[in-house]
Amino acid sequence: HAEEKQQLYNAHELASRWFHHVLMSTEQGRPALEYLRSRGFSDKLISTFQIGYAPQMWDALTTFLQKREFALPLMEKGGLVAFHEERNQYYDRFRDRIMFPLHDEQGRIVGFAGRAIGDIQPKYLNTSETPIFHKSRLLYQFHEAKSTIRKNNQIVLFEGYVDLIKAWEAGVHNGVASMGTALTEEHVKLIRRYASRVVICYDGDDAGIEAAYKSLLLLERAGLAVNVVMLPDRMDPDEYITKYGGECFRHEVMHGAMSAVRFKLLYLKRNFSLHSEDGKLRYIRSALRIVAALRSPVEREYYLKELAEEYNFSLDTLKQELYALLRSSQ
Ligand code: UTP
Ligand code: MN
Ligand code: MN
Ligand code: MN
Ligand code: MN
Repeated sequence: HAEEKQQLYNAHELASRWFHHVLMSTEQGRPALEYLRSRGFSDKLISTFQIGYAPQMWDALTTFLQKREFALPLMEKGGLVAFHEERNQYYDRFRDRIMFPLHDEQGRIVGFAGRAIGDIQPKYLNTSETPIFHKSRLLYQFHEAKSTIRKNNQIVLFEGYVDLIKAWEAGVHNGVASMGTALTEEHVKLIRRYASRVVICYDGDDAGIEAAYKSLLLLERAGLAVNVVMLPDRMDPDEYITKYGGECFRHEVMHGAMSAVRFKLLYLKRNFSLHSEDGKLRYIRSALRIVAALRSPVEREYYLKELAEEYNFSLDTLKQELYALLRSSQ
């Protein structure tokens, strides 16, 4: 099996170089290159991340691999080609897609994410489980970011490939992307080996906020200190950087991240209609439960004061309510 895996690593490395060549230096790659440029990708950025293009053909990569004597059944296992039962032949799994190579922790290419050009579904086609690709363990660009992550004792989590790449260009070099899937226990274990502080920087839309909340709980349960960047107007990091510039984004990540408690309070608020008196009171009680879970008295008082001011209660009243909560939960 070691031999098979090595073959798959080699095939991915070769395929990646070929995709990059097709993107940069062929007529077929032209529209894809134009598309990337229109999204603000410089040639330098494209080559730094080894981005490529899989042409709109059924057998381009298949033929390429066959010529180099890779066994196609193995290439199918590795997710590079697929098998057509009726025609009894292998064909390219990725066609007419912009190709992002996915590396494992050691920096070997183990899979690809292929983005459609335009509105074709699925938007991203990713390698599924293979002998060398395990989605639930892999974090995009971890191999490049890990030294900075360790040095800063901090990791920044993104949802998307493009977000990570644009953030990297903006100078955030301790970022990884969980590739749209929910963060897993395995991801968290990996993160914990390198850092104890995490900044979640997901998309600013509802899906991103929901995902951020789930990730936050998972990370906190593992004892990590978490902050959250919430981007305005439902933007994702790429859109934010395009609109406001990299410098502004970097500042947002480094100084604009909110505490876990503040994010939880904001998240909670979304579920209450604060226009009604009843809604307001129920929100306050739930909010106090979040504050009660804080261990530090200073932090508790800090958020209590804020709630008191915002909803026009005396600090004493909120404290009484908080103590009642603490007693009843013992
Ligand atoms: P988004 O829909 O937010 O895409 O999904 P994006 O990253 O902003 O991509 P662009 O800017 O439109 O190119 C976030 C992440 O979810 C995963 C990908 O990892 C994507 O980066 N995803 C999304 C998929 O795996 N498949 C999909 O069809 C869509
Ligand atoms: Mn690399
Ligand atoms: Mn999204
Ligand atoms: Mn997005
Ligand atoms: Mn995007």
